[in-house]
Amino acid sequence: MRAKIVSFVQMKGGAGKTTLCANIASTLSDQSNVLMIDTDFPQSSLDTWYQIRNDKYVIENLDIAVAKNLSQLQKMVRDNLDTYDYILIDGHPRITNLTRAVVMLSDLALIPLSPSQVEVWSTKHLAEIIEEAKAINPNLETRICWNRYRVRTNSAEAVVDEAKKVLKIEDLPAKLGNRVAYLDSFAQGLTVAEWHDQAAKIEIWSLTSGIQRLLDKQGNHRIKTEAQVDKFAKTK
Ligand SMILES: Nc1ncnc2c1ncn2[C@@H]1O[C@H](COP(=O)(O)OP(=O)(O)OP(=O)(O)O)[C@@H](O)[C@H]1O
Ligand SMILES: [Mg+2]
Repeated sequence: MRAKIVSFVQMKGGAGKTTLCANIASTLSDQSNVLMIDTDFPQSSLDTWYQIRNDKYVIENLDIAVAKNLSQLQKMVRDNLDTYDYILIDGHPRITNLTRAVVMLSDLALIPLSPSQVEVWSTKHLAEIIEEAKAINPNLETRICWNRYRVRTNSAEAVVDEAKKVLKIEDLPAKLGNRVAYLDSFAQGLTVAEWHDQAAKIEIWSLTSGIQRLLDKQGNHRIKTEAQVDKFAKTK
């Protein structure tokens, strides 16, 4: 069976793309073979996290590659689609042809978002690109991943409602809180599953199992051809 492709896209820098990608990839790798592709060159913080981890520990079932441009990304996906169970792509915070290709290649595009009105508004352009991609690839799933969520606050709940209305994208039920565990574990090449914060562990487990359920329900559709991905990527 071909790999399921899950991407983390958001134009807002610091939204949590890389943090989510590393934590979810690592959780999936407990039972599956996972490849992560870092497209945020030259920042490459996902690659840096992986190298720190690799220097200290034995990593099983989890590999990384860096894609600096569209043709490298296409080649990596082509070469690895039948090798891995999951390919997770960490996006960069700009709308470029690479970002458009990442969206088009995905089975599931995840949008990390903090509960702020301004961030919802600034995600509108990305939502439009996703809408455009869905017209070509109707099997593409998208979900908002609430990050740095403030539980039991009216303002956060209002933003969740607003996001559904404005962006017309559903969200995943598991929400991540603002926890230093995400920051500190990442700096050590670790995940929150390997850290002493039970609440963060549970958040990532719930989020990952929600993602798996969604992908299982989706079935195994054929992804778009490379020519279609190229054409969409280069559309202005
Ligand atoms: N839920 C959270 N709680 C606390 N800190 C968090 C949380 N999520 C992310 N962070 C921290 O916020 C910073 C930005 O996160 P991250 O690098 O994952 O964002 P990004 O979307 O990948 O950013 P960029 O667009 O620059 O690549 C990091 O220092 C990370 O540790
Ligand atoms: Mg990042």
